[in-house]
Amino acid sequence: MPLDIVVGTQWGDEGKGRVVDLLSAGVDFVARFNGGDNAGHTVTVGDKTFKLHLVPSGIIHPHTIGAIGNGVVVNPAILLQEMEMLRAAGVTVSPARLVISHAAHLITPGHIALDKALEGQRGQGKIGTTLRGIGPAYTEKVARSGLRAGGMLQPERFGQAMRQHIERVNHTLRHLYQAEPLDSERIAQEFTEYAHLLKGYIGDVSLLLTHAMNRGQRVLAEGAQGTLLDLDHGTYPFVTSSNPTTPGALLGLGLGVNWVERVIGVTKAFQTRVGEGPFPSELNGDEAARLRGTGDKPWDEFGVTTGRPRRVGWLDSVLLRYAARVNGLTELVVTKLDVLSGLAALKICVAYRADGQELRELPFGPAELGQFEPIYLELPGWSQDVMDVRRWEDLPEQARAYVLQVEDLCGVPVRMVSVGPERDQVIEIG
Ligand code: IMP
Repeated sequence: MPLDIVVGTQWGDEGKGRVVDLLSAGVDFVARFNGGDNAGHTVTVGDKTFKLHLVPSGIIHPHTIGAIGNGVVVNPAILLQEMEMLRAAGVTVSPARLVISHAAHLITPGHIALDKALEGQRGQGKIGTTLRGIGPAYTEKVARSGLRAGGMLQPERFGQAMRQHIERVNHTLRHLYQAEPLDSERIAQEFTEYAHLLKGYIGDVSLLLTHAMNRGQRVLAEGAQGTLLDLDHGTYPFVTSSNPTTPGALLGLGLGVNWVERVIGVTKAFQTRVGEGPFPSELNGDEAARLRGTGDKPWDEFGVTTGRPRRVGWLDSVLLRYAARVNGLTELVVTKLDVLSGLAALKICVAYRADGQELRELPFGPAELGQFEPIYLELPGWSQDVMDVRRWEDLPEQARAYVLQVEDLCGVPVRMVSVGPERDQVIEIG
């Protein structure tokens, strides 16, 4: 079957971008299916590091076409900036190489202002959003009052719709949040300009990909965020407003289930999270600082989009097993194994304790995780640096045991392990 799907199994930032980059070599299309510029993919090629938020990271390969599906929310200003950044780095970006679904919804300054106002009002109960307008853009989509990319094909009418949208937002900002209103005229003009620049890129992504697959071409579906941030299956309400899971890929690209071959789940060798919400295996102090890194290296645990230090902890295999279930994973990729080198002992959360009971499965999904105390399995660490290892059998025995333990705990075969940020710092397994 010609469709492979890459999903994050944790709270995002698993290293999907580099897995997609690697798999892109063998596909014709790379298609983003959810989220917006809340995502951040860091891809390192030689001495160049790209930070992409919207454009599918596969576009860095000269032969792949990037598609942005209907499940994505697009901030046109950010998209245009990214297209320019890629061009400046020598990547060809043209309508022949990038297609935006006519049914993708747009993010406007109105949505960003509402995101900020809402988070401000939540106070202590805030979600810790990326403040990119994601929630309000999806809210308007569901309320059937959003603006879709296809609207940009008629710039005049689009400008008018934008003016009305900002006026509606201003009403809410003034009366609900006592916040400053926005300049609807200026924003309408700005967006009319974006419409002229982007209209050549708008297409029917579902039709494009289906035709391509019928011709025998291959498609890689690239998810943003991760399973535990899924609106339905994540740690609600501390989630994003889209579906980063496998069903989200089909819905967000307009494709049927019959095309799917592999569902590749990406997990870090440990656990991270940005923003608020429960995290049972979270670490603090020296151990946390050790896993997080200092922020000197682009792949240290600091948010690509917001620069916030990520919360870090031991791998949680209860949640990984859950992710394997709700995504229907066929295989796993474990990233950042190198970060664990030098730790004397490693822990994996294998169950929770609550009300005197030991639980190996979550009774009601991950929303109420806060009440669970992790039960750990302890494994010996390894001291060798593994960044130069390229063959499974050359990994230290303890590193192999750690990976095999992960495989055993979640019931999905591990097909690849990454040991550094470079394209070639991977170990393929069997
Ligand atoms: P939003 O998607 O900006 O509404 O943020 C909702 C939650 O998802 C917050 O906890 C964010 O930190 C988190 N989030 C959104 N995008 C990402 C991502 O790409 N990586 C990690 N966390 C994310």
